[in-house]
Amino acid sequence: MQKNKSSVLGKLVVSKLVLGITGGIAAYKAAELVRLLVKAGIDVQVVMTSAACQFITPVTMQALSGKPVFIDMWDSSISNGMPHIELSRNADAILVAPASADFIAKLVHGRADDLLSTLCLARDCPLLVAPAMNKQMWENPATQRNIKQLKADGISILGPDSGEQACGEVGLGRMLEAEALLALVNAHFTPKLLAGKRVLITAGATLEMIDPVRAITNLSSGKMGYAIAQAAADMGAEVTLVSGATTLNAPSQVNTVYATSAQSMYQAVMSNIATLKFGTEDIFISVAAVADYRPVEQHKEKIKKSSSSLTIELTPNKDILSDVASLPNAPFCVGFAAETENLLEYAEAKRQAKKLPLIVANLAIDALGSDENQVTLLDKNGAHPLERAPKPEVAILLLQHVANMLQ
Ligand code: CTP
Repeated sequence: MQKNKSSVLGKLVVSKLVLGITGGIAAYKAAELVRLLVKAGIDVQVVMTSAACQFITPVTMQALSGKPVFIDMWDSSISNGMPHIELSRNADAILVAPASADFIAKLVHGRADDLLSTLCLARDCPLLVAPAMNKQMWENPATQRNIKQLKADGISILGPDSGEQACGEVGLGRMLEAEALLALVNAHFTPKLLAGKRVLITAGATLEMIDPVRAITNLSSGKMGYAIAQAAADMGAEVTLVSGATTLNAPSQVNTVYATSAQSMYQAVMSNIATLKFGTEDIFISVAAVADYRPVEQHKEKIKKSSSSLTIELTPNKDILSDVASLPNAPFCVGFAAETENLLEYAEAKRQAKKLPLIVANLAIDALGSDENQVTLLDKNGAHPLERAPKPEVAILLLQHVANMLQ
């Protein structure tokens, strides 16, 4: 029944989505979900059940999606009079969020007594369902049986989440937050090019403490490294992220450990490589902006101001990437070079000096803190410039290149 859409790697993996909203208090979260989907460049067609309209108005969803919202089977504005076919035509998927217990039961039985259930029955694209209900309703054997049946029918179940519920109870059943749903939808459609691979990534800035309140750091936001960690997990890899200082939320499906100084990051990387028994089949991507130097002395107390000048003596840190690349049975190592001048020349020199199969060259001005990046991949075959793109897209293209090199 389902057709397999070929995805365009490096671009959005989902470009057109039908979002079905059913009746439940979590319908309010669908507004944020539409906003995020649209922001991600996805064309969203909202279809609501009449019960959903009791919780949130079609006007809200229309304003956020920028398109008319459909509720009724008999809507005369649908050109061919067959909304159950027309609305999901060319859609990459139908996502029902929130999906009430009642709607889930309907799907199990293949009922088609309103527009959304008819659309689901007549679809030729994947169906993803985000349950949202009270804890007792979720735990009820009838619901559990229904969920099992939907899974057996090839329908993907996203969530539910655990936590405080609208009814005041705490437990499993509430709908996943919009951001988590967007991440899962993307993950669902990303080709699993790195299935079976283990990937270790460093990201963010390091902090070299001078005294308890002052540190030497840099402007790295961690966005590029986190995007690579998320994309690698979406591509099926088992991912460990060693994160330096950043304000970002940990990516989903990634084992994230924190190490803020260059020395602690070195130890975290080396111990993960040893514990996970990394070999030539595995991948290390060093995105962190690691401090090259640290203060010789870390003052225990705050340094007090005086009128004389202050000299802080610095000593070099070990180069994590170089040392990993020099290990016997070293994993496939990818470096990053953020330069302010002579980009390709300096980056290629780093690739060779650190004995890396691949380095990602970017200008510091393009990379630091920005949501987008413009990079050139350098390997033994030369330079492969990529177009400026949001960091999650750059991450997918980079990992696609890595997967090709590993083949
Ligand atoms: N790197 C590292 N450990 C360090 C310094 C850098 O693992 N102590 C890694 C970075 O994560 C990056 C690559 O090495 O992948 C290049 O880092 P960069 O700071 O651009 O280069 P450096 O080797 O430090 O040289 P320079 O600062 O002189 O440009």
